[in-house]
Amino acid sequence: MYDLPFLDLPPLTGAAGTVRLPGSKSISNRVLLLAGLCEGQTLVHDLLDSDDTRVMLDSLGRLGCGVEPGTAGGPLRVTGLGGRLQVHEAQLFLGNAGTAMRPLTAALALLAATQGGNFELSGVPRMHERPIGDLVDALRQLGCGVEYLGQDGYPPLRLTGAAGGRVDTAAPIRVRGDVSSQFLTALLLALPLVSADGAITVEVQGELISKPYIDITLKLLARFGIEVQREGWERFTIPQGSAYRSPGEVWVEGDASSASYFVALGAIAATDAPVRIEGVGSESIQGDVAFVDAARAMGASVHLGPNYIEVQRGAWPLRAIDLDCNHIPDAAMTLAVMALYARGSTRLTNIASWRVKETDRIAAMAAELRKVGATVVEGEDFIEVSPPPASGWKAGAIHTYDDHRMAMCLSLAAFNPLASADPVVPVRILDPRCVAKTFPDYFETLFSLSTTERSLVPVITIDGPTASGKGTLASSVAQALGYHTLDSGSLYRVTALAALTRGVDTTDGPAMAALARGLNLRFEGERLWLDGRDVSGELRREEVGTTASRISALPELRAALYAVQLAFRRAPGLVADGRDMGTVIFPDAPLKVFLTASPAMRAERRYKQLISKGISASIDELRADLESRDERDRNRLIAPLKPAEDALLLDNSAQTVEASTDIVLKWWAQRGPFGDGGTPQS
Ligand code: DC
Repeated sequence: MYDLPFLDLPPLTGAAGTVRLPGSKSISNRVLLLAGLCEGQTLVHDLLDSDDTRVMLDSLGRLGCGVEPGTAGGPLRVTGLGGRLQVHEAQLFLGNAGTAMRPLTAALALLAATQGGNFELSGVPRMHERPIGDLVDALRQLGCGVEYLGQDGYPPLRLTGAAGGRVDTAAPIRVRGDVSSQFLTALLLALPLVSADGAITVEVQGELISKPYIDITLKLLARFGIEVQREGWERFTIPQGSAYRSPGEVWVEGDASSASYFVALGAIAATDAPVRIEGVGSESIQGDVAFVDAARAMGASVHLGPNYIEVQRGAWPLRAIDLDCNHIPDAAMTLAVMALYARGSTRLTNIASWRVKETDRIAAMAAELRKVGATVVEGEDFIEVSPPPASGWKAGAIHTYDDHRMAMCLSLAAFNPLASADPVVPVRILDPRCVAKTFPDYFETLFSLSTTERSLVPVITIDGPTASGKGTLASSVAQALGYHTLDSGSLYRVTALAALTRGVDTTDGPAMAALARGLNLRFEGERLWLDGRDVSGELRREEVGTTASRISALPELRAALYAVQLAFRRAPGLVADGRDMGTVIFPDAPLKVFLTASPAMRAERRYKQLISKGISASIDELRADLESRDERDRNRLIAPLKPAEDALLLDNSAQTVEASTDIVLKWWAQRGPFGDGGTPQS
């Protein structure tokens, strides 16, 4: 999935199954910081592995914390600083991770002010547009040295101080709470570093937003021995003598915001069996589980267990809602997309914080929902979404603005067949890799839970004679599109190998068909396992190839392998290579390529392939062999090797793999609704 410029989601029609959520980003980064600041070791279980946690881990490592990754899914071991700086100068790059930038700024500003230091904190360009002024103002009240290195009010920052310095905590520290709750979180996480001499009080100015996130902060501080006293949502006091104490072990809950996509998936598409989401539930400390109530209001049928959520479709179409979403800012984005499946207009209010997140999410959401056909009204702090009429769905190339939640939310537009869209449309997600911020396997997970009609899943067929480079081209095209591959020749080869090993008569059609039907196969990328043994290497043996060519003329065997091959047609799409992909197996494929290369060229390629594997060979013999195999494949009665009538011919004798791939991708773009793939991301 990495470095894909785009991923096309075919129209999807159903969903069921179980998803185990990755760890919560909010909890992961708070726990990492607390483990990094406290004394001793903390074992962190189920940590989210993502861009944002990686920058936090990297920073802690640079600051001298011990960070030992867990082996084979085991817990991460963090050895904390015990409040004493080990490194007094560092430059930290924090990507676009607000959950790293804000708390590290607070912690390092306080540590530098008391123990001496010089730290520079920066991020990607978008990070330098995300406000931090309110936090800096609060830190300056304490006497910390904070300097803006770019624009006032925004990162990058320099934090300085001299050893033996003091911070002034006598007066209450005032911090604004109406732009981002992360400023308050940052202070609360960091202030125990200096609470030895007296209680410290923080006063919130303005109406505090995103209160549930503060709740997460307070609960995690309690796990690390800090009992913050709270008066309403205005005053927070850290008692004198508070000191971080490692709980020894911590388990990170699943990400409740990520759960929202699968709750929505269940509400929209789980008509038969539920979608079960494991890792969060009624006992969660994350406020975003309140999303479940909003989803229920829209019609979802939800069963909430302590550590899981089961969702099925309830009301359909969904019900439009008018909801103040201040308490669930991240998950509320998912409601905006559920609105595509509601009757009437859904209005989400009190969401001004969307404008200062990974991107301006109100503007982004409005623009991208319009691309799929919705009518959207946006205001400074609200969004109102009306679904497209059945005939108004459009194939949109969705910009994701380096915002994981935009990518995950908009993927749900692919279920337009369930809204009776006519015609049904695919959805193109640009830069799909941005989901790595919180959910690296999001699309794989979505596809594994989703169902669709086979005819809606796009297939590119690449047929051609032996050693024409079909397999290489198919893999390369599949990689560029994020599609699955089917190397159909390997099915004939593996059947041949099994027959040779087990002594089955390779001329006995019914026996060979029975053998093929009973094969215990596992595909993993380009590799193939037979009965739990990786046989990818053995399949390339000449004897296996020759036997494969002979048995492939058996009608009973071809019939037995038919269903096996059809099953490879799964979302998001398939690139299938062989002899009869375009003629027999996938005759409705929208793009069929017939690949050829001169016999001399093919013999030379096969020769190089064998020599590179240390197998001796003669070019002349190889050429004679492949010509006789062509002859046999072309002249057999059933599924002979020939181009489909609507196939495009590609002679790659003089082409590199890259050049051939580009040609196929160009043909593919011409067939799809997205033209050149949309304009580049801003
Ligand atoms: O592409 P390959 O060399 O791995 O294929 C091995 C044999 O399998 C080939 O000689 C013909 C047969 N084959 C076929 O009949 N139909 C296919 N779709 C793929 C391969």
